[in-house]
Amino acid sequence: MKIRTKMGMLAVGLSVAVAGTAAVGFYLTERSSLLRKTAGARSALADHLAQACRDALVVNDELAALNAAANVRDRTGVLDAYCLDGKGRVVAHADTALLGRWPPPLKGTDGVPMTVPVTKGPARKAVVIFSRTAMEREVEQALRDISHRIYPTLGVALGLGLLGAWWLALHLTRPIRRIAQGTHRLAAGELDHRLQEKRADELGDLARDFNRMAERLGELDQMKRDFVAMVTHELRSPLSAIESYANFMMEGVPSGEASRFIDNLSIIRNNATRLGRFVNDILDLSKIESRAMDVRKERFDVAGLITELTDLFGPVARERGVRLEIDVPPGLTVNADRDKIHQAMTNLMGNALKFTPSGGKVVLSAGSPPPAANGGRAHVRLTVADTGPGIPPKDQPRIFDKFEQVRGIRAAHDGVKGTGLGLAIVKGLVETQGGAVRLESVVGQGSRFSLHLPE
Ligand SMILES: Nc1ncnc2c1ncn2[C@@H]1O[C@H](COP(=O)(O)OP(=O)(O)OP(=O)(O)O)[C@@H](O)[C@H]1O
Ligand SMILES: [Mg+2]
Repeated sequence: MKIRTKMGMLAVGLSVAVAGTAAVGFYLTERSSLLRKTAGARSALADHLAQACRDALVVNDELAALNAAANVRDRTGVLDAYCLDGKGRVVAHADTALLGRWPPPLKGTDGVPMTVPVTKGPARKAVVIFSRTAMEREVEQALRDISHRIYPTLGVALGLGLLGAWWLALHLTRPIRRIAQGTHRLAAGELDHRLQEKRADELGDLARDFNRMAERLGELDQMKRDFVAMVTHELRSPLSAIESYANFMMEGVPSGEASRFIDNLSIIRNNATRLGRFVNDILDLSKIESRAMDVRKERFDVAGLITELTDLFGPVARERGVRLEIDVPPGLTVNADRDKIHQAMTNLMGNALKFTPSGGKVVLSAGSPPPAANGGRAHVRLTVADTGPGIPPKDQPRIFDKFEQVRGIRAAHDGVKGTGLGLAIVKGLVETQGGAVRLESVVGQGSRFSLHLPE
């Protein structure tokens, strides 16, 4: 789930919770204050009746007390109202037939009596019987009125809360998204990518740190490239001198007792060649990695390239007892950088001949499979297949990384040991041209490396 969705949901949840809590809290306090108010009104009414009964006693005017009792009884929510003498007999009531009798008994459970003393001693009392249902109905009606007044306000507050939540989610996640995108681009090798850092908060700090980190990475990358360029330059000149001197001396010494001398010299030459190859490989890789490798595409004849390769590798294959076969349709052409394809194929052929034991074969083939076989894109395929030891599935993706080799696979002859750079270079050379390298291999049967070049 995206961070914006999460934050939006959290903010919406919080707004709803705050609005809900406010509504419930408001409802409860209003309700208790209403209950308090109605209780006050009830006791005031009973006090009023008590006072009327007291006054009637003082001035000996029973009629005033009767009127007061009738008055109180007529109020809404009152079931009955009367005054009692010290013995508990009715002395004031709207119904004069009840005077001098015991008060009428309470019917049902609805009546809630409230008694207030009128005199001290054998107490006269004023009694008002309130209706519980009427009391509750009154409170409920009042609460309903309040709710109708606060709902619109709550709705507006909630709407504003949601709007604020949406704005907050957007405001906070947009810079985070930009930083995430920047990190992806940096990880993909775009070291010159920078973020805007106008904000003054922590996200602005993060963007500034990101930019400093990208700058530092760029510097380190430059240092690495400079180092490789320097090492390459410093090694290449003396190595070519060694190589040409060794060649020169080997040509000038007659055979016989000097053969040992020549053997030693040939070791010097082999090592010089090996070091030279290593330096060139490092240089090629550094160019590929820094995207400094320029690609010069031209349309060329595939059969011509394959013939050149078989001429180059024919003698080595014969020497190692490996059969070299070719299978290329005439007239097949491809639009690619010829030198780079030549170099990639040389690396693949070198590997195939290095790992295939004597008696095996290496097949060089080319073709232009139907576009459906390559996701609808037209392409030309160049393949080097061998009957060597094969590569275990777990090692197949790894061997295209630099310095990676398959453990336990040994070259089929005592030649120059490799450094594990060849396939990384092949991959880089082909991918800079928009192509791809594919490997199919079965342990014990052989390997098949194909270059897919887009047309
Ligand atoms: N045709 C093949 N058959 C079997 N294993 C292979 C084959 N080609 C490559 N490999 C395995 O992949 C590894 C990497 O190959 P890569 O060409 O990158 O390096 P290398 O040949 O060891 O050294 P370099 O090419 O730098 O001299 C090899 O060491 C070998 O283990
Ligand atoms: Mg190799």
